[in-house]
Formats: sequence, C-alpha cells, structure tokens
Amino acid sequence: MEVGLVDRRASILPSPIEKDGKLDGAIDRIHRIIVCTLCRDVPTGTRSGESLCAELRSRLSAHHEPAVAQGFAVEGVACMADCSRPLTVAFQAQRKAAYLFGSIDAQADPGDLVRFAKLYASLADGWCNSGQRPAGLAGKTLARIPAGPAGSLP
Ligand code: FES
Repeated sequence: MEVGLVDRRASILPSPIEKDGKLDGAIDRIHRIIVCTLCRDVPTGTRSGESLCAELRSRLSAHHEPAVAQGFAVEGVACMADCSRPLTVAFQAQRKAAYLFGSIDAQADPGDLVRFAKLYASLADGWCNSGQRPAGLAGKTLARIPAGPAGSLP
C-alpha cells in the first residue's frame, strides 16, 4: 500500500469520539449520524443542517434506550455530494451497512431519523429493507452500502 494512501486514511479515521471508542466509560458511541451543513432547504433556501444536528442530539440523548441515547455521535459535514436532494443525512458504523438519505425535512423528519437510529442500533450488520424503515423515510433512501470487510472502514 502506498504511503500516501495510508496517511490519507489515517487523517479521516479518527473522530473526536471514536478515537478511544469510549465515552464516560459507558456505552461506545459506535454509530455516526452525519448531516450535511451546506444543503439548502427547498424552498426556503436556508441551511438547516446545524439545527438538525442539535435536534437529533437532543432527541437521541433523551431516548429511553441507552443504546440509542448513548450510542450515536451526530456530526456535521460540508457536503456529501448529493446536493440535488437536500438535506442529506448518513448513518455509518463499523461492520454495518451505511445509509445515505436525501430530501430530509429538518422540521418533519427528526422523529423518523431517531426511529431509524433505534432500528440501526439493533441490527448486527445494519442491513434492513424499506419495509423495516420508518414510513416517513420512504423514497428518501439514496444509498444502502454493505459493510466492508472486518477491520476496514464501513
Ligand atoms: S450541499 Fe449537501 S450534499 Fe452537497
């Protein structure tokens, strides 16, 4: 493997939370919800990614199931290259399928995103079909990417 590739992977692997895989010595925050902070809402044109991050953090931390309340890190990222379907939101975890959702409404969809988080946390490999996902996310699943080999990025 080329040194440049190793260096590039090393720069994207650790997040502040995943560096040691632990938070407060309790449950690992093994799942990530990634929200685009550059997407502009249709039709208002406002960027709602940051507010959606705050809303998701609030709802997740108040969840009655510890695996949901403590098992997710919510992070913003500037663009996930699906700008034609704002607002985009991704779910990712090691050894689990990854998902990219588009056309997310920051006002209407947080509840369904948290319901999907509960489902996602419960699935060993993260794989689910459209019938299992919250109805409000129907037609918004842009990608379902199988987990990578053990020890690799998801
Ligand atoms: S601006 Fe949000 S995906 Fe590109």
